[in-house]
Amino acid sequence: MREVRADAPGRVNLIGEHTDYHDGYVMPSAVPQRTHALLQTRDDTRVRAWSQQLGPDPIGFEVGRERKTGGWGDYIQGITWVLAREGFEVRGFELHLESAVPLGSGLSSSAALEVATLRALRDAFDLQLSDVELARLAQRSEVEFVGAPVGIMDQMASSLAGEREALFLDTRSLEFERIPLPDTLELVVINSGVAHQHVGGDYVTRRRESEEAGRLLGVKRLRDIGVDALSRIEALPPLLARRARHVVTENQRVLEARAALVAGDLETLGRLFTASHVSLRDDYEVSVARVDLLVSLAEDHADVFGARMTGGGFGGAVVIAAAAGHGRAIAQEVSAAYARCASDAPEILLPLVN
Ligand code: GLA
Repeated sequence: MREVRADAPGRVNLIGEHTDYHDGYVMPSAVPQRTHALLQTRDDTRVRAWSQQLGPDPIGFEVGRERKTGGWGDYIQGITWVLAREGFEVRGFELHLESAVPLGSGLSSSAALEVATLRALRDAFDLQLSDVELARLAQRSEVEFVGAPVGIMDQMASSLAGEREALFLDTRSLEFERIPLPDTLELVVINSGVAHQHVGGDYVTRRRESEEAGRLLGVKRLRDIGVDALSRIEALPPLLARRARHVVTENQRVLEARAALVAGDLETLGRLFTASHVSLRDDYEVSVARVDLLVSLAEDHADVFGARMTGGGFGGAVVIAAAAGHGRAIAQEVSAAYARCASDAPEILLPLVN
C-alpha cells in the first residue's frame, strides 16, 4: 500500500472567454482555494472515493469497468478511463477529497478535482506524465467521459498557473508564458450566487453557433482569422456574426491585455476587461442580469480599473481589476450594494477573508 497527498488550485480567468474551444488565447490565474487529495493504493481494482463537500457516502467502481452515472463520481471514473485509453496502468485506490473551491461559482472546481486526482495517481503509480499532458488528460476525461464539451483552459490553469501570475496560453500549441501580476494590481472575485452548469444547455449551443460561423467563414477554427476579417464576419447572418465577432475581438483583447500586464498599464487592462464584458453580454450573450449588475456596481468604484464576468457565464462570478490595497473594501462595498438590489447572496471569493 502506498499513500500520497496532492493538491491543485481553482482558477479565475482574467481575459479570453469562450476562445479556448476555438484554439484561441486565454489568460487565467490560479486562486488560493485548492482541492486536496489523499490517496491510498489497493492491491485489487476497486476504487472508492469520498468528497467532504458532497456528503458522507463514497462512490465506488472497478478500474476497467467505468460506467457513467450522472453523479460526481463520473469525474473520478473519467480519470481512470482516460488513463487506460492512453496506455497508463493504474490499480484500485481509496481517495479522500477535500476542497476549498466552491462548487458552481466559476472557479472551476471540476478542473481542480481532476488535476488533484491525476497528480495523486501520477505519484502513487509512477506515471510518466508532464504537467501539460496531465491537463490534456483531465480535459479529455471531462469531454469524452463526463460529456461536457469544454476547452482546455481550466485544466491547464489548474495544472500550470500560479497565484499572483497570469498564465498566457495559446490553446492551439499549448505554449504558455507566466506573467507576474504587477504589485499595483489586486484581483477581486465575487460570485453572483446565480448557479451555472456547463454539461448541457447554453454552453453547448454557443459552441455550436460559433463553430457554424467558422464553417461559413471557411476556417477550421475562429482562431484562424483576426480582426482584419471583421467586415467578412458582418456579412454572416446577424446571430452568427455576433458570435464570431466576440471570439475574434476577444482573442485580440487577450494579446493586448498581455502587453498591458507586462507594461503595468492597468488603465488599459481595465478598459479591456470592460470591453470583454460588453462583448460577452451583447455579442456572445452569455451574461445574465445579476452578473451585469455586479460588473456595473464594481465599475462605479473609483479604485476599479475594469470588471467582467469570468468563466463560462450564465451566472457565476465576476473578476475585478482593482488598485492594490483597495481589494477588501471594494469587495465589501460592491457585495453590500449588490445584496441591496438582488435576491441572490453574493460571495466574496477574492481577496480571501482569514
Ligand atoms: C468553461 C470551460 C472552459 C472555457 C470557459 C469559457 O470554464 O470549462 O474551457 O470554455 O468556460 O471561457
